[in-house]
Amino acid sequence: MSFISLITGCPGLSGFGSASTAEDVTQGIDASGLTVIVTGGASGIGLETVRVLVMRKAHVIIGARNVEAANKAKQQILQQNPSAKLDVLELDLSSISSTTQFAQNFIALNLPLNILINNAGVMFCPFQLSEDGIEMQFATNHLGHFLLTNALLEKMKNTANSTGIEGRIVNLSSIAHVHTYAHGIRFNKINEKKGYSDKRAYGQSKLANILHTKELTRRFQEEGVNIMANAVHPGLIMTPLMRHSKLLMRLLRVFTFFIWKNVPQGASTTCYVALHPNLKGVSGKYFLDNNEKRPSSYARDEALAKKLWNFSEDLISSISKV
Ligand SMILES: NC(=O)c1ccc[n+]([C@@H]2O[C@H](COP(=O)([O-])OP(=O)(O)OC[C@H]3O[C@@H](n4cnc5c(N)ncnc54)[C@H](OP(=O)(O)O)[C@@H]3O)[C@@H](O)[C@H]2O)c1
Repeated sequence: MSFISLITGCPGLSGFGSASTAEDVTQGIDASGLTVIVTGGASGIGLETVRVLVMRKAHVIIGARNVEAANKAKQQILQQNPSAKLDVLELDLSSISSTTQFAQNFIALNLPLNILINNAGVMFCPFQLSEDGIEMQFATNHLGHFLLTNALLEKMKNTANSTGIEGRIVNLSSIAHVHTYAHGIRFNKINEKKGYSDKRAYGQSKLANILHTKELTRRFQEEGVNIMANAVHPGLIMTPLMRHSKLLMRLLRVFTFFIWKNVPQGASTTCYVALHPNLKGVSGKYFLDNNEKRPSSYARDEALAKKLWNFSEDLISSISKV
């Protein structure tokens, strides 16, 4: 997709473009029988993703740190769509114990799991450590989703095996993955306040989301697992994500208004990658405006993806032992 297609909304090879909405890209798709988890599904892009997935008859479980807000969102959707199959479970991705508990609570429901949408995120936070002592953007955007995905993998594999339906994992990354620290991930300084940049830390966490999908894909292909993992950049959309940089983002929008999307357009690439039959068998890719796009060289670095995987595993096990 070129810059011109982004502005004009012209469809790319997939037949969809930046102007396509989540409803457009899922038109005619029957998702009944599919169970989907959407993290952070109570606001912004996640909420629209949930609305459209239940409209296509999927059973959706929202993982939310603010259960009250998620239940309100659920009621809103049910008012429009009374037959929607929608549940809410508490999930704080910045906490290892909450994420582990969420996975256990989901598994206790004895439901299948076809699709995992790792959507939740925070952006440009001032330096802060999570309850486990991990820098907050890395903890929430990458580490929590890394742990959640691993905790749900057996369930996803069993579902894919017993139904013969391809499982899918969608990681919400960002074009901001290009704006990261030197060497991509600052492994030896991940929790250091000195040298912390709220923008680069966000970029680092979004790079980690792509590297995660890359290494998941390598592992799935090696094991012969019928699950596809892809990353997406949803576009630029004004949502509560901007809470730490409202002024900056509003100013940016004044000068770049022609590349901003509305929320239904913002949820389209997620829904396309999660549901569309065009992408059967496609894994380890990065999508933008409903079309595949080449990410940065760090995001294509297989050795970096493996290193991040091992680093994330070690970090989680060192915290779990405390
Ligand atoms: N909007 C954009 O322009 C843009 C661009 C590129 C990428 N993205 C990515 O798209 C995804 C969705 O963003 P959005 O724009 O829809 O933002 P949003 O409306 O703020 O949604 C993010 C969701 O994540 C949840 N969340 C935050 N921290 C969490 C935690 N520790 N545990 C569980 N849930 C948590 C939030 O819950 P609370 O309501 O409790 O905060 C919220 O529901 C993010 O991953 C973001 O990085 C967005």
